[in-house]
Amino acid sequence: MKPFEMRCIECGKAHDMGRPVYACSSCGNLLEIRMDRAEAMKRVSASDLRKRPISVWKYRELIPVSEKTKVHSLDEGGTQLFKCSRLASDLGLKNLYVKFDGTNPTGSFKDRGMTVGITKAKELGMKTVTCASTGNTSASLSAYAGLAGMKCVVLIPEGKVALGKLAQAMMHGATVVQVKGNFDQALEVVMKASEKLGMYVLNSVNPFRIEGQKTAAFEVCDQLGGKSPEYLYIPVGNGGNSAAYWKGFEEYESLCLTEGLPMVRGIQAEGSAPVADMFKHGKKVLEPVKRPDTVATAIRIGNPANWKKTVKAIKTSGGCATTVSDAEILHAQKLLAKHEGIFAEPAGAAAFAGLIKDVESGGVDRSSSIVCVSTGHGLKDPDIAVSQCSRPKIIEPTLEALETLLEG
Ligand code: F0G
Repeated sequence: MKPFEMRCIECGKAHDMGRPVYACSSCGNLLEIRMDRAEAMKRVSASDLRKRPISVWKYRELIPVSEKTKVHSLDEGGTQLFKCSRLASDLGLKNLYVKFDGTNPTGSFKDRGMTVGITKAKELGMKTVTCASTGNTSASLSAYAGLAGMKCVVLIPEGKVALGKLAQAMMHGATVVQVKGNFDQALEVVMKASEKLGMYVLNSVNPFRIEGQKTAAFEVCDQLGGKSPEYLYIPVGNGGNSAAYWKGFEEYESLCLTEGLPMVRGIQAEGSAPVADMFKHGKKVLEPVKRPDTVATAIRIGNPANWKKTVKAIKTSGGCATTVSDAEILHAQKLLAKHEGIFAEPAGAAAFAGLIKDVESGGVDRSSSIVCVSTGHGLKDPDIAVSQCSRPKIIEPTLEALETLLEG
């Protein structure tokens, strides 16, 4: 038996991992990689794993690549799990941590998935890669495509991508296309283009992306000394990362590499919250939001492609999905920056905003261990940061002028 196979998330039909497919040929649902855990652990021992420093490729044997696979990497993962004592004491919490994935090579968690995605794209013999993106996926894909010597076409919603992300995609040499529409519409075009033009899609509908992203959960467990947190707060946009984290926790636990599983709280922005809406109203099927909007442009998504995966993950964990307002997101962003030195982009502060709300409503056990996932760096979106702060004062270049200013 092989350690990995690719199956439909609904009907379980097996699909050939050696071909570029994203949806089940029988029922059209998304695909996922399943790991034969005993087989995987024949490839590496727990004690060998423990000796390696954390990074995506620390867990190579738990990722669907072979010994011969040539990996394309910028040394992603291995990001900090900060213990946030100041904010914990302000909120009356015992064990608050932030997993800051903004320190990945291109400044977001996307790099975890992209190193695996591009590695597989090369292995499959693809020449051109593509994605629709609210910004970070395009920045990451462009960098990795350049590294692997592949052509790259990224589609972004016109005027709604943060400046830093746009600059990255352009500098890394991708063909950057602005679509007169939102992310959901751009993704539709990308899926059609993949069929017609033979481009390889590296959105999170690609199951290999999820395999890279699940390593963030492995890292959290390792950083907590072989334990899962009791709560995981995570932003939900297209729903890939929350599903990936849960997959990581479940796999790591079933391999006896960690103890326990977290309750997952998926956090969406009020104006783009179709998943939270399902939980609020007990809906069985996602109803897309036609005109999603939020200051956290990274999660400005109305029709998340991975909704089935993420809803299942959140429900299995015993958690739920809820919303935060734009004002709450920006407040949380400032608190993280000011009190803990963590400069996150707005979407990267949404999970913490969700936690604050739960603390205020009594919806979380204050003595438990809580990890908030911060997904992207604040420098990605300088406009939002600058617009929230008072402008620097201007003075004459003299000590007196400085003294007058500071006294005033
Ligand atoms: N946080 C940030 C900073 C993101 O860029 C994204 C998604 C998310 C959270 C949500 O993750 O989609 O897996 O639920 N950004 C995608 C992009 C959509 O195109 O960069 P998700």
